[in-house]
Amino acid sequence: MSPETETTTHSAEDDPRNADILIYVDGALKHRDDAKVSVYDSGFMLGDGMWEGMRLYNGKWAFLDDHLDRLYESCKAVALDIGMTRDQLVAALEMTREANAMHHDVHCRLMVTRGVKVRPFQHPSLSRSGPTVVIIMEHSKPVDTLQSRGIRLATVPQVRGLPMSQDAKYNSHSKLNCVIACIQAEQAGADEGLMLDPHGFVNTTNACNFFIVRRGEVWTSTGDYCMNGVTRRKVIELCRADGIPVFERNYSLVEAYGADEAFLTGTFGAQTPVAEIDGRTIGTEGGRGPVFRRIRELYKGLVDKDTA
Ligand SMILES: Cc1ncc(COP(=O)(O)O)c(C=O)c1O
Repeated sequence: MSPETETTTHSAEDDPRNADILIYVDGALKHRDDAKVSVYDSGFMLGDGMWEGMRLYNGKWAFLDDHLDRLYESCKAVALDIGMTRDQLVAALEMTREANAMHHDVHCRLMVTRGVKVRPFQHPSLSRSGPTVVIIMEHSKPVDTLQSRGIRLATVPQVRGLPMSQDAKYNSHSKLNCVIACIQAEQAGADEGLMLDPHGFVNTTNACNFFIVRRGEVWTSTGDYCMNGVTRRKVIELCRADGIPVFERNYSLVEAYGADEAFLTGTFGAQTPVAEIDGRTIGTEGGRGPVFRRIRELYKGLVDKDTA
């Protein structure tokens, strides 16, 4: 494995303040060194839990309702009772934010698992403590090289499956499918894995959603096999509102290799240019171009409006 000093899609600038952050664990705030969950926790033992990644701008969580909608929807689908109302969850976020005196350039991982089990086996009925809720907030500024250098993708054998295996729309603690893809990409010398769908169409990456630009048109996958990314949806809506042609459609690697621009979307990095796919250079500006720049500007404006 390459060290964290190398660029990944989630590389942030070192911030010494993160050494002493307070973490929310089931209602209590603990120094990061003391923030612990049980080895019997359903999340640790089975990956049985859901999470959201959110970003704080100007003291406000961008697109908070979208994130909470996704979290409550996926928990409902797996019969995981969060045990807290939306207002209570927002209050827990605020308590953690205030305790850490955080205002801007902060990333949060909000995690909910099925809680502590009475015996080390899979059946959900063994999880009887009620859910475990953990909130990690870190000072987080994506490194500049993500924008200046762009990301290298490698197409990997691991695919995103059909919804009746493990629906890609679950932001579950179990990310093994994505982790395997990431390992395969790393072993191929790339930063992140480009994953196909079960039919061989270009789908998504192991941690972000994926877009290409061809002759002024923005293309992304149909959305059937990838995370219903909040940033993905915002980019599509921004394109529509700004008159940029945007299509959720099937396309192949031939069309991805031949793209004029390509980029990833995700809460952490907003939009990150893709400089290379399987050794093929994308466009002439490391994946960037006029459409990428316009979308980034529009997205920044939307975040400013949402967090004003
Ligand atoms: C597999 C995967 N794809 C894409 C995303 C990006 O989603 P969002 O834009 O909501 O951050 C995430 C983020 O959690 C993810 O885990």
